[in-house]
Amino acid sequence: MRTPLIAGNWKMFKTVRESVAFVIDLRDRVAGLTGVDIVVAPTFPALHAVAGALEGSPIGVAAQNLHWEREGAFTGEVSAAMVREAGAAWAIIGHSERRTLFGETDDTVNRKVRAALTATLVPIVCIGETLQEREAERTLDVLDRQIKAGLDGVTGTELAGMVLAYEPVWAIGTGRTATPAQAQQAHEHIRGRLTQWFGQDASSRCRILYGGSVKPDNIAALMANPDVDGALVGGASLDADGFTKIVTRGRR
Ligand code: PGA
Repeated sequence: MRTPLIAGNWKMFKTVRESVAFVIDLRDRVAGLTGVDIVVAPTFPALHAVAGALEGSPIGVAAQNLHWEREGAFTGEVSAAMVREAGAAWAIIGHSERRTLFGETDDTVNRKVRAALTATLVPIVCIGETLQEREAERTLDVLDRQIKAGLDGVTGTELAGMVLAYEPVWAIGTGRTATPAQAQQAHEHIRGRLTQWFGQDASSRCRILYGGSVKPDNIAALMANPDVDGALVGGASLDADGFTKIVTRGRR
């Protein structure tokens, strides 16, 4: 059985001080809560301090991005080994904002996934179609391409411990959530492909999150779907009260 996972993607919000204050508060709010894994993804400068503040707590820490090389002349970039040492155990990879605003491709996503695995980070790999692709009925093809290319060379054993996040681009930050039926349809398709390409065991263990305007009032309906194993939450993860509600309602 897959334990639900609720991950908060803070994007470019919260200073180091604000991030630490937030997790100290969150840690108390969710103390003793079972049946759900919780991860927060602060900005790079806050990673180390947040990981320190969460030491001994079950709340995990994720980087929002990384570079695939271990080190080198790559001004402005941060490697998987560096975020691992800073205290992150997880890494969001290929978020649609990275793909559309910063030119990431399925190929760079794949390099990052491999680098994360080498550094023993758990990749949270984001996939999802744009509105144009959905309207052209290309959603499932786009997902197939992103999974196949993004996870090229990944083994079944590695996949079993990984996380995929289905995030329809048209639902991110728009207040327009996919309906529970739309989410389940995409998740079921993704799970089917994972079974086909990585085997039944790996596919049944890999967690598939939904992302895109997840809020306290829609998480329960999304989680009622058998293939929705949690959520990647943007805007609503910035508020401790709302995020705690999502985590609490996301339990199974
Ligand atoms: P949102 O963002 O919850 O603000 O729509 C989700 C995401 O970008 O992961």
